[in-house]
Amino acid sequence: MSAADKNSSPYSDLTSANGHDNPGLPHHRPRRADVDKKAGKRAERQTALLFAISIVGTVIAIWAYFGLDIGDGGDVAAIQQINMWIGIGVFLAMIGIGLGAIHWAKTLMRDHEMVEERHELRSSDEARAGAIQNLKDGAEDSGLAGVERRGLLKGTLITALAIAPLSVLVPQIGNMGGDWNVSKFRHTIWGPGVRLARDPDGALIKASDVTIGSVFHVIPDGLHDLDHAAMMNEKAKSVVLLVRLDPKDLNVQQGREDWSFDGIVAYSKICTHVGCPVALYEQQTHHLLCPCHQSTFDVANGAKVVFGPAKRPLPQLPIAVDDEGYIVAQADFDEPIGPSYWDRLKGGDDTAVEEETR
Ligand code: FES
Repeated sequence: MSAADKNSSPYSDLTSANGHDNPGLPHHRPRRADVDKKAGKRAERQTALLFAISIVGTVIAIWAYFGLDIGDGGDVAAIQQINMWIGIGVFLAMIGIGLGAIHWAKTLMRDHEMVEERHELRSSDEARAGAIQNLKDGAEDSGLAGVERRGLLKGTLITALAIAPLSVLVPQIGNMGGDWNVSKFRHTIWGPGVRLARDPDGALIKASDVTIGSVFHVIPDGLHDLDHAAMMNEKAKSVVLLVRLDPKDLNVQQGREDWSFDGIVAYSKICTHVGCPVALYEQQTHHLLCPCHQSTFDVANGAKVVFGPAKRPLPQLPIAVDDEGYIVAQADFDEPIGPSYWDRLKGGDDTAVEEETR
């Protein structure tokens, strides 16, 4: 580096702490776009193309959400395809903007060294004025202001930035337009006389089949007669765990004296924390454990919460035995199953209110 180069460097008046000469900055090499107008235009078109890819990505995501047929909601392949296209769209929308911005900075923005003066805490008025000037210079460097108008870049960038959030927001807002009728959360297909059947084979369960200490995963008889989507929705709410305790270990809850049969009790399998299946039964302690966050429910004591984040007991299904010895439900659950939700305490759900305020 020549002495002239060193002297023209913005760092030429700096000396290092150990007293060595300041080597200055390496010689500045202009980029092709700086010296060749054609190359500059080409870089501009490439950047605009990347922003256009982002725009296309957003359109693909919105089209996939609204345009592709989800079927009856139970078609897993259709859902996978929609998710794939939404994913591709969001990916293109984000990467187009990111790569476009990088390409713009590397090829079109001014390429020169900047020196930032630093001062303690509040900067002097002079430095503040300098900062404002830097911002103005930055705006000019970006090409959005000043002599070079770059209308194509501006248009594609503004459009890409303006519509990119739609690829994420539209599906969220679209979901909000769905079915807000939460009353169906309150009820399951359990009802008077519905027999308890094993999950998944649907075999009916007799009281004599249930030995002390055994656990049955249960669905309502007739569930498999529903169409696929309805069956999945109803199964998600109505799965039950059936357990038989030694009757002397069972602490029957007040008002539920006839809800069990000779030590056999049935509780919703849906955790009242955030809805995982509660499926781990500890025979010695009569505890049911939810594997998600370790909420623990005491089956011998009304499935009350003895540990973990769940806030209320598992809802109990009142059961009886019919003339043929099969276990049947006496009624639906008397409170909504699963985690609490915004509307759970409205609409005369007295049991839920009582439990919630305990
Ligand atoms: S879902 Fe059961 S403890 Fe969280």
